[in-house]
Amino acid sequence: ANILVLQGPNLNLLGSREPEIYGAATLADIEQKLQQQASQQGHRLEQLQSNAEHVLIDRIHAARLDGTDFILINPAAFTHTSVAIRDALAGVAIPFIEIHISNVHARESFRQHSYLSDLAVGVICGLGVQGYELALQAALAQLETTSL
Ligand code: DQA
Repeated sequence: ANILVLQGPNLNLLGSREPEIYGAATLADIEQKLQQQASQQGHRLEQLQSNAEHVLIDRIHAARLDGTDFILINPAAFTHTSVAIRDALAGVAIPFIEIHISNVHARESFRQHSYLSDLAVGVICGLGVQGYELALQAALAQLETTSL
């Protein structure tokens, strides 16, 4: 399968950014693990981090035509602000899992609303960077059942 991993704003700072909340792993660490997990099981994974809303939206649009089967997305702060990313995901109708490293429900109240969650296949939050691996595992399992 073709999996697209999208990482939103400030996630390029992982490792040094508020480590008491987000942990010590860097974005490169996460990307390497996911890549390994996917290729070991014979799947293709493409990954993109951007601080720009339109770059994420354009990539979501392109996914409609490039054979992307599933999207894993940590929309970061855009989770709580972006009707545009919501509309893009709804527009391409590709199944996706929403991931948050931190438990957004245990933090500021503005983090407790997501513009994406009701469209997502599922949401993983608060499990640290392990959430990415669990999301990939869940996506691959889901694709296997739907292609049977
Ligand atoms: C985050 C949670 C968001 O509220 C925050 O803006 C982020 C990261 C997380 O992974 O825990 O940048 O999505």
